[in-house]
Amino acid sequence: MGRLVVISNRVPVPARSGDAPAGGLAVALNAALQERGGIWFGWSGKSSPGAEPPPPRFQQQGNISYVLTDLTETDVEEYYHGFANRVLWPICHYRLDLAEYGRKEMAGYFRVNRLFAHRLAPLIQPDDILWVHDYHLIPLAFELRQMGIKNTIGFFLHIPWPPSDVIAAMPMHEEIIRGLSHYDLIGFQTDYDLDNFAGYLAREGIARKLGAGRFEYHGQHFKAAVHGIGIETKSFAQMAQVAISNSAVRKARQSVESRDLIIGVDRLDYSKGLTQRIDAFERFLRAYPGYHNKVTYLQITPKSRSEVPEYETMQKMVAEEAGRVNGAMGTLDWVPIRYVNRSVGRHILAGLYRIARVGLVTPLRDGMNLVAKEFIAAQDPDNPGVLVLSRFAGAARELDGAVLVNPYDTEGTANAIARALSMSLQERRERWQNMMNFLLHHDVSHWCDAFLNDLTQHKQIQAVPI
Ligand code: UDP
Ligand code: G6P
Repeated sequence: MGRLVVISNRVPVPARSGDAPAGGLAVALNAALQERGGIWFGWSGKSSPGAEPPPPRFQQQGNISYVLTDLTETDVEEYYHGFANRVLWPICHYRLDLAEYGRKEMAGYFRVNRLFAHRLAPLIQPDDILWVHDYHLIPLAFELRQMGIKNTIGFFLHIPWPPSDVIAAMPMHEEIIRGLSHYDLIGFQTDYDLDNFAGYLAREGIARKLGAGRFEYHGQHFKAAVHGIGIETKSFAQMAQVAISNSAVRKARQSVESRDLIIGVDRLDYSKGLTQRIDAFERFLRAYPGYHNKVTYLQITPKSRSEVPEYETMQKMVAEEAGRVNGAMGTLDWVPIRYVNRSVGRHILAGLYRIARVGLVTPLRDGMNLVAKEFIAAQDPDNPGVLVLSRFAGAARELDGAVLVNPYDTEGTANAIARALSMSLQERRERWQNMMNFLLHHDVSHWCDAFLNDLTQHKQIQAVPI
């Protein structure tokens, strides 16, 4: 197999990799690429004032050669904040009400994809395999093909794919989706996403289904398949074991005293169901007064995409809601909710997951949700905690030992918290073991290998003349 070239908007720039909340994509790709080596091309996270960003920078770290390009301020505004995060993100998370569509932003989206293609093409060797990630870069394969790039190109969507009517509400959806047909393989997190995608193609009558996941779209042949992303299960479990001796984790443990710790870890994003979760916690406290002063709910929520107005609003709402519940339910010696509005390093998170009795992962919609998987991997096998998981997270399709909830059902989620806290050791062990077995087998290397095998096999089949 040739070199692996990974392309994503967000790259955890090596010099700063310790201080930023990367999000699921960067965390998983870092693990996959460190292991196999290759090139990682993407945005530097910086903007420059001129009309044209300076040439890309090259940086080598371990097995990975990073190629990082700045964007202009206009590019960041139109492509990243404007189209990717105010149109595609809300639409893919079923939030048509939050989508702010504009032609200027859409033009910026295509412009930056073209810029990426122009900067990437000179670096590509004939047998390289290209793997493009996420909603920011849907048109990239088309732009590369226009420049004569014939390499195998795969695409993986880390976020959900909604039902066809939701996608179809996006103006010029066909123009955007057409870009996908230039990939050889399109990977989705779950069967729901794949079904929705196939449903969209059928409903709009724009592609012909050929069987075995293959489609034909205006003469282009491609495959679509499910490849749910995993984590570095083994090493995360080891990290958690070591992390309980970390001083920050020990201090956190001491400060909650003998209370049971409930933990939530999410970027500050409306898709994560944070206000609904805080309301459910309040409902739990009101319905089960026996738990007063017996639990502490720690919510770690780093800021994210703060320039996008919906995120700014969300930040206020979550802080107010946590403050309100603490005001209403707290006592002189007990603060029910600890709300931390900044990012925490993964080695500390691993320890916090391990000392927690309950992991609360209740997004309204999520592609996969790696926090759910990390929480399971971090548990003590002798005395594991319980995962309370939204049925609308991709992880719910895989982690059947979790206590599944509908995050819109405040009372149901409140009862699930009580159930998790009172679950017998035997039941906790059984549920945890099932999930851990799954995660050990379906880890991030498995995800990477399975996707790349599927991609190269599909390409070989295509190359055989019919
Ligand atoms: N994360 C982190 N520090 C934080 C919060 C989150 O390192 O303060 C990591 C977390 O461990 C996980 C990722 O960010 O690996 C979040 O991925 P997930 O799939 O749960 O959600 P996303 O942010 O991608 O929507
Ligand atoms: C999700 C997306 C990623 C994104 C991450 C963090 O995981 O799927 O593509 O990188 O959120 O968001 P950001 O906008 O900071 O890159």
